[in-house]
Amino acid sequence: MYCLTILPYLLPSLSAQDMIVKNMSFKVGQTLTVVGVPKPDASNFSLNIGSDEQEITFHMNPRFNAHGDENAVVCNSYQGGNWCEEHREGGFPFQQGEEFKVK
Ligand SMILES: *[C@@H]1O[C@H](CO)[C@@H](O)[C@H](O)[C@H]1NC(C)=O
Ligand SMILES: *[C@@H]1O[C@H](CO)[C@@H](O)[C@H](O)[C@H]1NC(C)=O
Repeated sequence: MYCLTILPYLLPSLSAQDMIVKNMSFKVGQTLTVVGVPKPDASNFSLNIGSDEQEITFHMNPRFNAHGDENAVVCNSYQGGNWCEEHREGGFPFQQGEEFKVK
């Protein structure tokens, strides 16, 4: 399971393919749980949390088979128009067409 620590001052918006949630509000100690189902033919999908499209505090990109990665979760953040450093999480709890839960 992945743990997202949501900092209360970020008031994030969350976007995933075909889904955008804006103006979520969090209180200290609250956790966010995201449940979704990747498309059966997805090569990758992503989950973004940030104040807007230009400031993505948390970008998570599970790749089934994309960008030369197979079953890898690549995380990054996007600030002021630039991507920061990629880092990879261990484990890959995702399957195409199967529900996942990230919290
Ligand atoms: C988010 O909330 C702020 C403050 O309440 C508001 O000004 C803004 O229009 C809202 N944005 C969206 C996308 O609903
Ligand atoms: C990642 O997924 C998106 C949305 O399905 C797709 O448009 C994009 O081409 C994919 N990228 C790669 C490298 O497969």
